[in-house]
Amino acid sequence: MPGRFFITTPIYYVNADPHVGHAYTTIMADVIARHHRQRGDEVFFLTGTDEHGAKIARAAEDAGRTPKDHADELSGRFREMGRVLGASNDFFIRTTDEQHKAVVQELIVRMHEKGDIYKGSYGGWYCTSCEAFYNEGDLAEGRTCPTHRREVEWIEEENWFFRLSAYRDRLLAHYDAVPAFVRPKSRMNEARSMVEMGLDDLSMSRAQVEWGVTVPWDPAHTVYVWVDALFNYYTALTYADPGTDLVDRLWPPTLQLMAKDILKFHAVIWPSLLMSADLPLPERLFVHGYVLKGGERLSKTTGNIVDPFPYIERYGLDALRYYLCREIRFGDDGTFTDEGFHQRYTTELANDFGNLLSRTTKMIERYRDGVVPADPGGDADLANEALAAREQVLAHFDRDDVTGAVEAAWAWVRRLNRLVEEREPWTLAKDDARAGELDQALFSLANGLRIAAILLWPVIPQSCEAVFSALGEPVDGVLLAGAAWDAGTPGARVTPPEPLFPRIEVDEVTA
Ligand code: MSP
Repeated sequence: MPGRFFITTPIYYVNADPHVGHAYTTIMADVIARHHRQRGDEVFFLTGTDEHGAKIARAAEDAGRTPKDHADELSGRFREMGRVLGASNDFFIRTTDEQHKAVVQELIVRMHEKGDIYKGSYGGWYCTSCEAFYNEGDLAEGRTCPTHRREVEWIEEENWFFRLSAYRDRLLAHYDAVPAFVRPKSRMNEARSMVEMGLDDLSMSRAQVEWGVTVPWDPAHTVYVWVDALFNYYTALTYADPGTDLVDRLWPPTLQLMAKDILKFHAVIWPSLLMSADLPLPERLFVHGYVLKGGERLSKTTGNIVDPFPYIERYGLDALRYYLCREIRFGDDGTFTDEGFHQRYTTELANDFGNLLSRTTKMIERYRDGVVPADPGGDADLANEALAAREQVLAHFDRDDVTGAVEAAWAWVRRLNRLVEEREPWTLAKDDARAGELDQALFSLANGLRIAAILLWPVIPQSCEAVFSALGEPVDGVLLAGAAWDAGTPGARVTPPEPLFPRIEVDEVTA
């Protein structure tokens, strides 16, 4: 049943350039969004940038420019990253948007009026890279942040507090009522124990930080950057489509993606803010792992980054999208390596998929003048296997198992490669008495490839569109309903394409 599907990525900090870690979340969200469009769902895919707070103000100062100029420049680079990655997001939010700021103010006024916000004073160890306070006991050696291993600073001031502690029981009740609120399960358990261990109220304004949203009833304060940022998921819907209130149609989010570093903000603080503002909670959060290089998480702060753009230039966009989906099991950490990238490109994309298309179209051209034969109807078993592949892909997506979905689609590609070897169309072509068998083999290969391209389209859209045109099928035919055995275009004419994934020599890679 088609429905509504609202998916989000975290909004990225504009303190430094985007890297493969950010690209990863955006690509995974895009794959899921595209899959849901194929189901016929009304999809809304939101991403953007997180631009306020001390971290950004400092990055701007280091760069010798105003926070706004700095944010404009860096936000532009994240937007450009999305474009280069083929991200099909419906909106790109910036927390410096006036409309966003106004709605954040409305929401916190609502929370204040309800009695959930009070004035207090607080002293704690603050990590600007995390934009978060730590208790003494949570600090790493040498009084450093446990995540960034950077020095923390003691911050003591009078500010506004959100009664987070008051939401403890309601949070636990929600976790009980909706066990899949956070996936994977291990992350749900982690969130639950954070809450069970007890929650401090949240310092939600800062007097010392000017670069932020003004607290409406106390203009000497700005809103804590995480409160400002989390609300983006809601505020975006109020102005993404001028003249239409998308909140009514789309709220709450169906699926929110993030890495485990920001689990507490999303699984504990975010639902509490929403309960306080009397808004329905997201259906679920999916917490993925880290993209690692040399055993370390990619991060600007640790100086360990991989730039996605050179891989796209060398291997093409689809190669990067495929590699990330396939290599890093969604939910687990995974290591990005040049060798692994090259290997999957060559053996899977170029050999399994690209060669299959080129052999199939060439044989249809040579033996049948380029026209896909009509289905002689003798491959009922294979038709069932195709149907099973589609069902598996759907089932994996329902469990947020993007890697499993790609594996299931790839098993079908490999099945078609075996079909070529089993049927040997080149042998059939030598014997006129076997023309019917040759028709069947060629039809099944072309049709099987058409179905493979539908299943893989969310992951490698450009290549799959090239497959559709090589097979003489409409390029916009990507609905999953089309992945049925009898849904192809009768009498389609093939055009052998340029190689989908041209050979790339290793020395070019290491150069
Ligand atoms: N601005 C906050 C999020 C606010 S959301 C209301 C923030 N920004 S960030 O720029 O640090 O981005 C963090 C997110 O980027 C992670 O949660 C994850 O989605 C993605 N990743 C950044 N580095 C990553 C890896 N090395 N591996 C996987 N994902 C990574 O936190």
